[in-house]
Amino acid sequence: MKINDFKLERYFARHEFTAKYLFSSSDCDGYAMKYLLDCASKEELALWENIKLGYTESEGNPILREAILEYYKIKTIENVVVASPGELNFISMNVLLTSKDHAISVSPCYQSLSEVVKSIKCELSFWEAKPEKWELDTAELEKLIKPNTKLIILNFPHNPTGNYLTRKQLDEVVNLAKKHDLYIFSDEMYHKLIIEDIEELPPIADIYEKGISLWGTSKTFGLAGLRTGWLVSSDTDFLKKVVAFKDYLSICNSAPSEILTIIALNHIDKFLLPNLKKIRKNIGLFTAFAARHPIISSFTPPKAGSTAFVKLNIETSALEFSDRLVEETGIMTVPAEMFEHQGKYIRVGFGRNNFPEVLDKLDGYLNAME
Ligand SMILES: Cc1ncc(COP(=O)(O)O)c(C=O)c1O
Repeated sequence: MKINDFKLERYFARHEFTAKYLFSSSDCDGYAMKYLLDCASKEELALWENIKLGYTESEGNPILREAILEYYKIKTIENVVVASPGELNFISMNVLLTSKDHAISVSPCYQSLSEVVKSIKCELSFWEAKPEKWELDTAELEKLIKPNTKLIILNFPHNPTGNYLTRKQLDEVVNLAKKHDLYIFSDEMYHKLIIEDIEELPPIADIYEKGISLWGTSKTFGLAGLRTGWLVSSDTDFLKKVVAFKDYLSICNSAPSEILTIIALNHIDKFLLPNLKKIRKNIGLFTAFAARHPIISSFTPPKAGSTAFVKLNIETSALEFSDRLVEETGIMTVPAEMFEHQGKYIRVGFGRNNFPEVLDKLDGYLNAME
């Protein structure tokens, strides 16, 4: 199997640990170990102190799977498989698709959602969101369905645009999937990061029997370092195949990360609420900033999630802009090219504490340019 580079990750690899300021991260600041352990009850601390550092169950620790199910209507642990989020995406596409199938993904999209599909030589169509509000039309989605379509790939809250479907739209997508007997893989990595006053969508696994929900600790919780994600689905045959595929990759999860994830799940508000507060504050700051700078030609604040895709009024490409910015100021931004998008956009991430400081530096740079 051949797979193209994951451009976004390669771009991060170049700059993430050398650039002075990160302006495009999709995750919130990572919480400290002490903060997490201070949240733990006596029983949870006992779990932590008594971890055995051997192999763990491939499907995931049963106590962890019970803790995950608190967030779903589905109530048996056979409906949950734990692994790292990117790994679960990779395995799911490989289990679901062959070169004879056709899949449809929302676009723009987080590259691994489309690239893994392409690596299987599966035909892929994009359900395009319309700039600048990133609206999606379910009638257009229906037009993309072919006799060999097997899968619809969703990602709401959406990275990078911060778009979110209405409940009515999600139901329309589910009805289309039912009508054509399609799977829905719903990447819900930013689940519960609801920014505007809108209805929170249910996980797809709770409303559709061929729905597969992906969530994890990286974004909502600010715990990307745990590398914990999970799939929830009614389709236990699919999940068994995921576990069998995982034998060729990580085999099982990190025992300490599993216990730390249990603690985080049992105390979600300690993680989620500060993240939401920070994201909302930073969006407010950026809204005022965007209004002051003609170089920012369009900013649609995220309805949900932690990022926005911001249009720039520039002569160069977004990639050239980002390369020059990081070289001259130490501010790293992710250009549209990392999402296979040709427009002049950069992703802005709102989940970092030093956002005001970075905005200040960017202010000086743009003032000199404008
Ligand atoms: C939409 C989406 N899905 C999946 C992932 C993968 O999560 P992780 O990096 O924790 O494996 C990310 C990470 O950026 C993401 O944005």
